[in-house]
Amino acid sequence: ERVLMVDQILSEFRLEREELKEVMRRMQREMDRGLRMETHDEASVKMLPTYVRSTPEGSEVGDFLALDLGGTNFRVMLVKVGEDEERGWKVETKHRMYSIPEDAMTGTAEMLFDYIAECISDFLVKHNLKHKKLPLGFTFSFPVRHEDIDKGILLNWTKGFKASGAEGNNVVGLLRDAIKRRGDFEMDVVAMVNDTVATMISCYYEDRSCEVGMIVGTGCNACYMEEMRTVELVEGDEGRMCVNTEWGAFGDNGELEEFRLEYDRKVDETSLNPGQQLYEKLISGKYMGELVRLVLLKLINENLLFQGEASELLKTRGSFETRFVSQIESDSGDRKQIYNILTTLGVLPSELDCDIVRLACESVSTRAAHMCGAGLAGIINSMREHRNQEALKITVGVDGSVYKLHPCFQDKFHNIVRELTPRCDITFIHSEEGSGRGAALISAVACKMAASML
Ligand code: BG6
Ligand code: GLC
Repeated sequence: ERVLMVDQILSEFRLEREELKEVMRRMQREMDRGLRMETHDEASVKMLPTYVRSTPEGSEVGDFLALDLGGTNFRVMLVKVGEDEERGWKVETKHRMYSIPEDAMTGTAEMLFDYIAECISDFLVKHNLKHKKLPLGFTFSFPVRHEDIDKGILLNWTKGFKASGAEGNNVVGLLRDAIKRRGDFEMDVVAMVNDTVATMISCYYEDRSCEVGMIVGTGCNACYMEEMRTVELVEGDEGRMCVNTEWGAFGDNGELEEFRLEYDRKVDETSLNPGQQLYEKLISGKYMGELVRLVLLKLINENLLFQGEASELLKTRGSFETRFVSQIESDSGDRKQIYNILTTLGVLPSELDCDIVRLACESVSTRAAHMCGAGLAGIINSMREHRNQEALKITVGVDGSVYKLHPCFQDKFHNIVRELTPRCDITFIHSEEGSGRGAALISAVACKMAASML
């Protein structure tokens, strides 16, 4: 009986096929509004042109530096792009991870970019590269309105970043200024890309059908190659340009209201960006653990879990980490893993408690996979329509901790996408070191183009 009552509470997370189709259609509508000049400003899905085009002119070879800011880790990488007889190119990377201190994330833009420049300097010293002026590709995983591949303003921070004085400013300029302030090394910043774009490009060099990039990690977003004639914000009709959808903001105009639950509203209210990134907040790793925690509190409140008693830790915001969701759903069936996690959270669970917690995790992560799948199906169906093709064969490059580490997210996600895209043949590939390789390869192309214009 207890399980039945639990099930009733969790059933709110279940989405019927028709509901998912409706989410998909609304996503497509917002994408269209984002692409069109007249409706762009009011659209929630911004569809930002990236100036990454479909016809690369070939690329330079040599050493590139790549930065990756906006995922779980901040990384500095050295990428060697070389010629390869079979594939025409090859890359090798060396990288180093740096953690971003809280005060750099939420202080001033100057503090944040000074810290980034300090990390680059440290990396250059460690690899004995300080004397070289290397071309640099910057993977910057936030919404940017580009004017060109190496110029664009930050529209708004997402995912818990908040450094003041960055929004509305040219991000490459902020980086160049910080490097100048240090004065101990020089860099030639040649390209700035979103992580979805870097991911797509890194896979494109292995599979020429890779024209979609997606991240399901701390944040959630996707990009794809759109027909230039539909990208109204950029002049020209020939070929394709990569569009960063910034679909995480889907729902910010009320498109998801009937799907959002009390837990979603609470997560949003207590976030650093209330009212923003509402679709992302249903899916990504920044919020998944917290959603589960709120569901557990609800079950405790209804006297359906832990004999109605919550521990101090469980009552604390952020205590239920997203990796616990993956670990709990990976439990082999002996409940050991679940038991261990719950005891570190200060409760003593019965076997049934463990099973109920697992059900709560499954409800939240399955909804995330389905919601995300409806979004991607929207993109892929629109691509097929915009290309006027009967059928579409396409590859999607994917990265991010939720996609890579959660035991069931992938399968549930793939199944829904395929179900909602009947005339499409979709391959999913994991990007490895996508940001480093992607940013370097785009920089290599940008250098070649710059050189040919001289
Ligand atoms: C990494 C990419 O592997 O995945 C980053 O290099 C990206 O660019 C990240 O932002 C996303 O995943 P997470 O889980 O770190 O947010
Ligand atoms: C957030 C950012 C977006 C990024 C995504 C994944 O949604 O706004 O730019 O691609 O997170 O990291």
